[in-house]
Amino acid sequence: MSLKFIKNYSIMPIIPPQNVAMKLFLDTANLDQVREIASWGILDGVTTNPSLVAKEEGADFKETVMAMCGLVNEVSAQVTGETFEEMKVQAEQYSSWHKNVVVKVPMTVEGLKTLNYCTSKGIHTNTTLVFSVSQAIMAAKSGATMISPFVGRLDDLGEDGMDLIADIMKAWEHYKFDTQVLVASVRNLDHVTRAATLGAHISTIPYKVFKVLPQHDLTDKGLKKFMEDWESVQSK
Ligand code: E4P
Repeated sequence: MSLKFIKNYSIMPIIPPQNVAMKLFLDTANLDQVREIASWGILDGVTTNPSLVAKEEGADFKETVMAMCGLVNEVSAQVTGETFEEMKVQAEQYSSWHKNVVVKVPMTVEGLKTLNYCTSKGIHTNTTLVFSVSQAIMAAKSGATMISPFVGRLDDLGEDGMDLIADIMKAWEHYKFDTQVLVASVRNLDHVTRAATLGAHISTIPYKVFKVLPQHDLTDKGLKKFMEDWESVQSK
């Protein structure tokens, strides 16, 4: 293995090797929630969006993002400009804050121009508001680091949002895209389970759903019984 190869590999940690488990991101703009879940040792990243930021009244966006970057490897910060020129300026600004910032760009034509620009500059990107395979393909062709298909919002319309993930993962089998598929708009444990069984690269999960991930009734019952049996031996 040449030194050149080792060097190149070491600057591209954001692309997971095939044998690494699905990455788990927390979908929040709340720093305390990130601190809590990061303390479990399994949190890979955070996704924010303007609606989540709006819920955290008084918090400074830049400070929050930078603090999160100190806790996890990838933090998505969404641009709010509408034109390529506006988004480009924000992309440069956000990416200068910290190496762990991933610039989140909406899936529009102006967004595609921004993605191409960011790719040319080595700025990591997350394409948000993806609702179709054609959008996913275009974002991948623009070199997006990750794409965010929104499953919950498709469920809200009476569709099965996870069908979109299945279609995208099927399409990905035919091409050599490095673009990671990030399951977004997750509403429940079933979304996370199905994301993993479909081989999605990342799931971004709201705090309430994240807290459910380690739980199982049989784990609680089993542990209770182990403890009771242990106590009974100690008291003999
Ligand atoms: C994450 O990147 C998305 O912005 C988020 O998952 C959207 O979730 P929602 O559809 O519940 O608002």
